[in-house]
Amino acid sequence: MPQGLGNDVVGTGVCVHRNKSGCPRLDPGHELAYHATGIVMNILVRQPTRGDEVEHLEDDASANPWGYNLNICMIGAGYVGLVSAACFSEFGWNVTCIDKDPARVASLKRGEVPIFEPGLDDLLARNIKAGRITFSDDIGPAIVASDIIFLAVGTPMRRGDGHADLSYVFSAVADMAPHIDGFKVITTKSTVPVGTSRAIEKRLRELRPDADFAVCSNPEFLREGSAIQDFTHPDRVLVGTDDPRAMEVMERLYKPLGLRGAPVMFVSRESAELAKYAANAFLALKISFINEVADLCEEVGANVQEVASAIGKDRRIGDKFLHPGPGYGGSCFPKDVSALVRTAREARAPLSIIEQVQRVNDERKIAMAGRIERALGEGISGKTIGILGVTFKPNTDDMREAPSLVVVPMLVERGAKVKVYDPEGRANAEPMLPGVTWCASASEVASDADALVVLTEWNEFRALNLKAVRKVMRGGVLVDLRNIFNAKDVVAAGFDRYDSIGRPGAGN
Ligand SMILES: NC(=O)c1ccc[n+]([C@@H]2O[C@H](COP(=O)([O-])OP(=O)(O)OC[C@H]3O[C@@H](n4cnc5c(N)ncnc54)[C@H](O)[C@@H]3O)[C@@H](O)[C@H]2O)c1
Repeated sequence: MPQGLGNDVVGTGVCVHRNKSGCPRLDPGHELAYHATGIVMNILVRQPTRGDEVEHLEDDASANPWGYNLNICMIGAGYVGLVSAACFSEFGWNVTCIDKDPARVASLKRGEVPIFEPGLDDLLARNIKAGRITFSDDIGPAIVASDIIFLAVGTPMRRGDGHADLSYVFSAVADMAPHIDGFKVITTKSTVPVGTSRAIEKRLRELRPDADFAVCSNPEFLREGSAIQDFTHPDRVLVGTDDPRAMEVMERLYKPLGLRGAPVMFVSRESAELAKYAANAFLALKISFINEVADLCEEVGANVQEVASAIGKDRRIGDKFLHPGPGYGGSCFPKDVSALVRTAREARAPLSIIEQVQRVNDERKIAMAGRIERALGEGISGKTIGILGVTFKPNTDDMREAPSLVVVPMLVERGAKVKVYDPEGRANAEPMLPGVTWCASASEVASDADALVVLTEWNEFRALNLKAVRKVMRGGVLVDLRNIFNAKDVVAAGFDRYDSIGRPGAGN
């Protein structure tokens, strides 16, 4: 496999290329880049321009239009690792995806994608066929061949103290250490607490004092359900590094996005790490804010959708993440909010607002079960409740921290017969939601139900024929925790009671 940058990076901290006649030269634009290491500028927003080609790798350039090649080792083939690997291979880079889970690697080798993410199967199939992406559980050869090593392993919430569990990260670091030969850029794509990149560097220096590498931070902002679009059209790419060689490699890596106009921002490692947590905490705060405003709307007769669209028109506020619902869940917000709260407390700069967001969200999920119970009137024991959607959001099969994991067990515990349908979530959800009956469609869930509850706003639920749904139900209660219907249509379809979030209407 052709080596990408290794042999062309010489000296300490200065990046030199050789042109065709063998004379060393600095890559255009790099004076600027060196300033970004902190001497002159703290933040560099650099958009590479066409013509900024690198001559020294012309021989390897046949596979892509960029004039050079890059070899990437992606450690972790989950939501982030797989999507990032597929998109990097689509840019033209060679990617080897490593995962510890042999079943996952085997299924990927068979061309089966182990997660549901719209468009990912086609993207992977195309790049597997083109020979740009391969899968393995043998980390050694992939590390040896790589210019860039990404850590995209999980960083779940640690039991007990709510901090980020970094055991997967450091286990991957230990796995890669013996194989590092030549200069490698090691990059955390996993969401890791501030200081982790430095800690990885320290650990690697202990394990391999002889090795040549730079550790940088490149947090990922993609959202499940629209991950490919988010990766290929990011609001920004954030790279934390103070190493000029790593900066050059990362610039080359993201050149395809830079040429499209995506800002590629170079900041310190600490800023990059903290920015990821601050972004998620801010978005979680927006959700909890609108959820509390929705509760207030119900008490005072306002409509949260009108309020949200009025404040959202203010560009200082923006209209995103102002949709009330049953509380945020998913693989990121709950654990990242929790980890940030821990980091802030340890740094003696507590984020009291974010601590409150965490409490508001936990209580909200519990309150949703009470809301369903109230809608049904005289207790839910023996009543049949149909649940539409259990994943934490639509267009994913991810169940991590989904509100359904709080709401559904509470209904079961209180004696309800719970029927469930989700377009993609069943395989992951079934072991997590004991005591429920699984159905193959929305109409099967509705059949003989006393109440129907929308927990996840899959598009197919928006398109339901409410009259037909009401006809097969025993009772006439619809609890819409995502506000996908409107009261007029629900009442016209023959329902007796419609509960939604923060809006006037039947039931509220
Ligand atoms: N899921 C998202 O939407 C999202 C978005 C942005 C950032 N992130 C962050 O990205 C990271 C990964 O998240 P995810 O949702 O992709 O996780 P995931 O659980 O879906 O995938 C992690 C993968 O890493 C593998 N793995 C664990 N240890 C390994 C090792 N030592 N070597 C090789 N493989 C190993 C696991 O088998 C698993 O397949 C987390 O830090 C997360 O916070 C996630």
